[in-house]
Amino acid sequence: MPDTAKEKATFIVSGVTHSYNQTNALNSIELTINEGECVAIVGPSGGGKTTLLNILNSSIKPSTGKVIIQGKDSTNYTPRELKSVRSRISLIPQNLALVDSFRVWQNVITGKIGQHGFLKLLKNLTIPAKEQLTEIHSILDRVGIEEKLFSITKNLSGGQKQRVAVARSIFQSPAAILADEPVSSVDPARAKSLVELLIKISNEENTTLLMSLHNLELAMEKFPRVIGIRNGTVCFDRSPDQISKKELQELYQLEENEILEDG
Ligand SMILES: Nc1ncnc2c1ncn2[C@@H]1O[C@H](COP(=O)(O)OP(=O)(O)OP(=O)(O)O)[C@@H](O)[C@H]1O
Ligand SMILES: [Mg+2]
Repeated sequence: MPDTAKEKATFIVSGVTHSYNQTNALNSIELTINEGECVAIVGPSGGGKTTLLNILNSSIKPSTGKVIIQGKDSTNYTPRELKSVRSRISLIPQNLALVDSFRVWQNVITGKIGQHGFLKLLKNLTIPAKEQLTEIHSILDRVGIEEKLFSITKNLSGGQKQRVAVARSIFQSPAAILADEPVSSVDPARAKSLVELLIKISNEENTTLLMSLHNLELAMEKFPRVIGIRNGTVCFDRSPDQISKKELQELYQLEENEILEDG
């Protein structure tokens, strides 16, 4: 790969495997994700999507192989480098990791914990600067829940909580957003609008976006690149118009009439 292409890659994954004790979650993964790309990761439960996203965020180390994040090999990060990369690569975890008893603005502010450190975060959580609240309000406006700025998070619906997690990610101003099944608890229309919102943010700010999705139709409709993962192995990785019905059936091991009616 020419050097210029390397510089443009947010992630280069080579020969990555991962095992949890006896379970082999990822096998020899090879991937390059370029700066600003929007990529959907699909596949059956237990296929390895969450494991891959956690490896890209350096939350877990691969058992073997290496991951280059923005040009730097993540295998030998110092604790300081690890902290720095986590502040640039934002993960929206499957369980959202929000503090239920916090007000919405407080959860959003925790997005900058990696950049500001714990003590500054503690201060901001108690006495937020006016400019910060204004910024958070405008981000909440962008994700469509500006009226929830001072609400207690546990009183929000599942879909609103997902938007808080997205707002926390945007507040971080990351180079990449890794969204792990961010639309699982919303109705189809809201799922679509949340996916569109994340893609819009990615396009406007040249933020790399990787999203794992159980909603195959949404992945195929909205993303220019779709990666299918089953049993820890990449089954396909290309634009949706070049993915065949047969490949999708094999990915989920479904009968023909169970896949995308108009596929
Ligand atoms: N902490 C863990 N300890 C042991 N095994 C794990 C752990 N996390 C995941 N696994 C196993 O690793 C494999 C991949 O799991 P992973 O969570 O990455 O799949 P996934 O594609 O995200 O699934 P889902 O669509 O259900 O979220 C599965 O076999 C799972 O049981
Ligand atoms: Mg998962």
